[in-house]
Amino acid sequence: MLDELSSIQSDALAAIESIDSESSLEEFRIHYLGKKGRLTATAAGMRDVAKEDKREIGQKLNEVRTTITGLIDTRTAQLDAQKDAKAVAGIDPTLPARSLPQGAGHPLSQMLNRAVDTLHQLGFAIAEGPEIEDEWHCFDALNTPEDHPARNEKDTFYFDSGKLLRTHTSTVQVRTMEGAKTLPVRIIAPGSAFRRDEIDATHSISFTQLEGLYVAEEVSLADLKGTLEYFFHSIFGKDTELRFRPHFFPFTEPSFEIDIKLHTAGKSARWIEIAGCGMVDPAVFEAIHSQRKDDLFSPDQVSGFAFGLGIDRLAMIQHGIPDLRLFSENDLRFLNQFA
Ligand code: PHE
Repeated sequence: MLDELSSIQSDALAAIESIDSESSLEEFRIHYLGKKGRLTATAAGMRDVAKEDKREIGQKLNEVRTTITGLIDTRTAQLDAQKDAKAVAGIDPTLPARSLPQGAGHPLSQMLNRAVDTLHQLGFAIAEGPEIEDEWHCFDALNTPEDHPARNEKDTFYFDSGKLLRTHTSTVQVRTMEGAKTLPVRIIAPGSAFRRDEIDATHSISFTQLEGLYVAEEVSLADLKGTLEYFFHSIFGKDTELRFRPHFFPFTEPSFEIDIKLHTAGKSARWIEIAGCGMVDPAVFEAIHSQRKDDLFSPDQVSGFAFGLGIDRLAMIQHGIPDLRLFSENDLRFLNQFA
């Protein structure tokens, strides 16, 4: 039996040399170690070995098994390495990596995110509303009379159903107050608004607004001024000059437009309009009150301020962009400057 084991070992050592594939290696394994393999068959003969020889033959048996298992492991590793080498043949790992272009936010998104972050710090939460609206949320509840020019078909996109594309994000003021559970209400509503307009460098049919609304028991004009001054100083720097110019909006009283002083190199400084704002008109609270079953927005108990910013305008000022259309043309030469 010892001879038989020795010849199995030397056969295996010779045979392994010509094994050059995974399938022939598997055949090799089955030939020696398989259920009906040579070594297995020989091992079965241990039963008949005389007691005094068992130790020696057992040792030899183990030695041969270990040798063959070792041969298989080594060959497996060699075959794997050959496979890997083939896969990377022709690739030079010392070459520098190809650079991946890195994405960045659109300049409008960047400005919108900054605006939202800044107001978030003051406790304003984000509110949303649909872009396809009804006349109630866009005009009636906002104290805008039937004959107001903004309601004109020339200025607003109407659907046959009577619905419309919201002309401002002030619609979200109404929706928020209609659904509010408690006071205070302190929200910002970023989103798109739409107006029929001739498209040129400063006019577009769709633009990005950010609405703000704060309603509580006692809100003053000082709160409005403080909030917006903080906001514009955060965005454009502490030295930015602002002016609150009396204006008219149907849904605020008093109302203001906010102008910012712009210093352009080579030109004399000028004021440019960047936002509308005011104290919520009691007529708006009256409209909300009429829709609700409680007195949460009873006009003689609450007060508030609202504002609306044009995000496009803010981004144009910040980067000195002369033409609104650049934002929507998707020209990478333009966009890459903000990456
Ligand atoms: N909705 C107004 C506009 O689009 C802006 C505004 C919002 C004014 C809130 C006052 C209060 O022009």
